[in-house]
Amino acid sequence: MMLSDSHSTTPSAAGMVYIVGAGPGAVDLLTLRAYDRIQRAEVVVHDRLIAPEVLALIPRAAVRVYVGKASGDHAVPQEGIHDLLVEHARAGRRVVRLKGGDPYVFGRGGEEVQALQAAGIAFEVVPGVTAAGGCAAAAGIPLTHRDLANSCVFLPGHMAEGNSPLDWAALARPGQTRVFYMGVQRLAQIAHQLIAHGLPPDTPAAIVRDGTRASQTVFATGLSALVAQAPAYGPQPGLLIIGETVRLCPEFRPVAASSPE
Ligand SMILES: C[S@@+](CC[C@H](N)C(=O)[O-])C[C@H]1O[C@@H](n2cnc3c(N)ncnc32)[C@H](O)[C@@H]1O
Repeated sequence: MMLSDSHSTTPSAAGMVYIVGAGPGAVDLLTLRAYDRIQRAEVVVHDRLIAPEVLALIPRAAVRVYVGKASGDHAVPQEGIHDLLVEHARAGRRVVRLKGGDPYVFGRGGEEVQALQAAGIAFEVVPGVTAAGGCAAAAGIPLTHRDLANSCVFLPGHMAEGNSPLDWAALARPGQTRVFYMGVQRLAQIAHQLIAHGLPPDTPAAIVRDGTRASQTVFATGLSALVAQAPAYGPQPGLLIIGETVRLCPEFRPVAASSPE
């Protein structure tokens, strides 16, 4: 099976790089196209957040290269990843660059494409289910809703620190769902900024950890209560969703009227 239509350049005898989104974890959220490219890979360069069930689909004969990144711990620096992709492709190999979620959503897929273009390497980008879509569906939180939120914004939570470039006044306005990637460990700063810019402290908010996986947990309540009560940050990936649609999550527990917020 060879499907087309992704963002790609023409394959050449000099090898090809497939930048493939592996989705948020559940193996059956992998697209057919992603599955196909993995099955035909000779080299797979992969990240930390790829679920073991997805890694199990890599052919035995393929060379696996782990370049995982945890916060502050880069197994291979980004430029080293570019060099690896270019080297393997120049040696004529079919290379899959396997990334969590979607390669173009906080995944540095854009930088990898630029590096391949600069080196004249043929490539294809295969989209994946991004964490926001996967976690929202798995936790019962619509990202938009005609009555509650007519827009949704994806944000990099690690930019909530110091002189944050995020437009907090715009983000505090009603009628939108805010999804923070890499934001769980900055929950207190994010909540502080939003509330300081006018967001009501009891705005529904949720943390979805290990979204779509068997180990998924969801904690949903008012934003200030979430800051006070959310379980400690751990190694599992976690997504922070803030907005009125979180009220529809089956795990949502509103803050009792008498409890201090
Ligand atoms: C570097 S970003 C990569 C995002 C990825 N490209 C995507 O489209 O989902 C990693 C962040 O995505 C979020 N994330 C990824 N998978 C997740 C999951 N299964 N459950 C919750 N959050 C997840 C977490 O916020 C994590 O810190």
